[in-house]
Amino acid sequence: MACAAIMIPRLLRGSVGAICTQAAGLSVTRSAWRHLSLTSMMTSKGKTDHLERTASVVRQEVVAAAQVCGAAHESPSVKRLRLLVADRGFSFKAGQWVDFFIPGVSVVGGFSICSSPRLLAQERMIELAVKYTNHPPSLWIHNQCTLGSEVAVRVGGEFYFDPQPADASRNLVLIAGGVGINPLLSILRHSADLHREWVDKGSGHEMGTVRLFYSAKNTSELLFQKNILDLVNEFPEKIACSLHVTRQTTQISAELEPYITEGRITEKTIRDHISKETLFYICGPPPMTDFFSKQLENSHVPREHICFEKWW
Ligand SMILES: *[C@@H]1O[C@H](CO)[C@@H](O)[C@H](O)[C@H]1NC(C)=O
Repeated sequence: MACAAIMIPRLLRGSVGAICTQAAGLSVTRSAWRHLSLTSMMTSKGKTDHLERTASVVRQEVVAAAQVCGAAHESPSVKRLRLLVADRGFSFKAGQWVDFFIPGVSVVGGFSICSSPRLLAQERMIELAVKYTNHPPSLWIHNQCTLGSEVAVRVGGEFYFDPQPADASRNLVLIAGGVGINPLLSILRHSADLHREWVDKGSGHEMGTVRLFYSAKNTSELLFQKNILDLVNEFPEKIACSLHVTRQTTQISAELEPYITEGRITEKTIRDHISKETLFYICGPPPMTDFFSKQLENSHVPREHICFEKWW
């Protein structure tokens, strides 16, 4: 296989928030990470900087080398990457993100993993889907990254779904806006993997139902349509989806039509799915995330059943 393992030093000792790495002009393979002070990190990108925004969030210690093994456009503005992470010390839970270190780029990216933990366990692969923005890591991914490019990744985040075999079975309602679909697709895929194991082997965690509500601008910006519909068709009794488009201007194709609603996800729709056994996972632009988490709280859903992640 072309994707070979690379040694990366462990960067983390103590507070992650105070560490920023830079490998400007140097190859990852030569372990050329340099530590910058907090002050230089603060001058980078104001409040949109991933490291600042997530400074207090739990991270793993392992910084693992990763090699780009696949790249494709998922939509006109979103590029999907497949990365080989050979280091077995690297693992993640469905819903978590990675710090994304690029040699020669001083700003560290933060991207949710959209693949399932099982893909990592079986093939040592993770997938990311990154929207085009002016943020340096996104620019690098869209303009410079090629097959074989080497980066490094570190897992973090407190937004995840990781039920243990003996845990009570729960229904999930996943609410996604735009590229907020990424961590929720990982959760959807993980739920399907758990259900498959339960059906095939009678072991593991018994899933309840999973219902995805996913809103995007139009059908070209609805990511992973095929992946989502394949899961819905594989497990019609367990997995359902409702895809929303807010600014569609063209005709919707016949195969997509049954799943599409024109207009936003409404609070009423979500309210209809409240029950004691249901966990809500919300990821989208901050106003949308705030709106639904507040609505659910107002409807007396316990806070511990409402998980959310905002993206900027
Ligand atoms: C969706 O919006 C983008 C950007 O405005 C546009 O380029 C694309 O053609 C639209 N797609 C559809 C199916 O309307």
